Amino acid sequence: MKILVTGGLGFIGSHTVVELQNEGYQVVIIDNCSNASEDVLDGITKITGKQPDFEKLDLRNKVDVLDFFSRHKNIDGVIHFAASKAVGESVEKPLLYYENNLSTLVYLLQQLSAKNKAHFIFSSSCTVYGQADEMPITENAPVKPAESPYGNTKQIGEEIIRDSCEVFSNLQAISLRYFNPMGAHPSAEIGELPLGIPQNLVPFITQTGIGMREQLSVFGDDYPTKDGTCIRDYIHVVDLAKAHVVALKRLLEGKNEKNYEVFNVGTGTGSSVLEVIKSFERVSGEELNYKIVGRRPGDVVSAYADTSRANRVLGWKAESTLDDAMRSAWLWEKKIRA
Ligand code: UD1
Repeated sequence: MKILVTGGLGFIGSHTVVELQNEGYQVVIIDNCSNASEDVLDGITKITGKQPDFEKLDLRNKVDVLDFFSRHKNIDGVIHFAASKAVGESVEKPLLYYENNLSTLVYLLQQLSAKNKAHFIFSSSCTVYGQADEMPITENAPVKPAESPYGNTKQIGEEIIRDSCEVFSNLQAISLRYFNPMGAHPSAEIGELPLGIPQNLVPFITQTGIGMREQLSVFGDDYPTKDGTCIRDYIHVVDLAKAHVVALKRLLEGKNEKNYEVFNVGTGTGSSVLEVIKSFERVSGEELNYKIVGRRPGDVVSAYADTSRANRVLGWKAESTLDDAMRSAWLWEKKIRA
């Protein structure tokens, strides 16, 4: 079985390529390397013993997308990661985000809808729930108005897929709504490589731990939570990667109940920012320099998943603890800065 992974050199994409290859799938990666390096291919090859096929291609070029599919007629499934993901940047450059995240999706679906059978997995986000009214968040929780163009691209992306599945019965799709991915492959051959100053908590923590950043700012400790800091559901990227393989298998084996399905992918456990810091201190043996500052605009108080649908229907469950994930993130940070 041959699987196309767009954005396969990125953080979640590369870990998913590893899990696909471990399960015997043949992988072809498309990436424009705008936020990833070709060196990631070496890491994947070291872990799996197999070098995935790779084409440097920009999905915004419709002609190149068409050309790719005319040369690769035997693709059995597509996992679509390629997208921009920085919330702040999306506010500054909304049209870039709509182009990067939506026109590319349309071009891919145009090609897939012309095939006899197409299986498609989409990277969505818990950001579609906004501040959900109830915790844990089930897939039935309403989609709230997006706080940013980035969040909006995930909502609209899901709608584009849903509408396409309505009319193209040959198209089967699953959207996975990720909670907060973190960590790295335990081999430390691949991991997260944020460009510039990390916006996400865990890479900021490990970069502070290694001495690249002086101090972590904790955005608010006056939230109505157990210790006043925000609650998130941090999931080990390897667990998340495995969820993609299981979801894809469901489509390939025709086990899906509907043409289009949605699953939360998280651990089901909410952790506060201070708990994440404590986890870092436990696994690294280092004290983290942090200070409490004001709230970050747009942050929700709490978001953690009800994962029972994924557990029951996909037969998938996150296995790693926060400490496991943090240990892998720290090992990776130490390796790349050595
Ligand atoms: C963020 C995005 C989300 C997106 C996800 C992609 C926002 C508001 N949300 O999720 O839409 O899908 O990234 O990766 O940007 N924190 C600190 N100090 C820091 C960094 C973060 O205290 O330097 C806190 C935040 O306030 C938050 C938690 O850590 O409570 C996690 O933050 P982050 O890693 O940015 O993820 P989200 O905000 O959940």
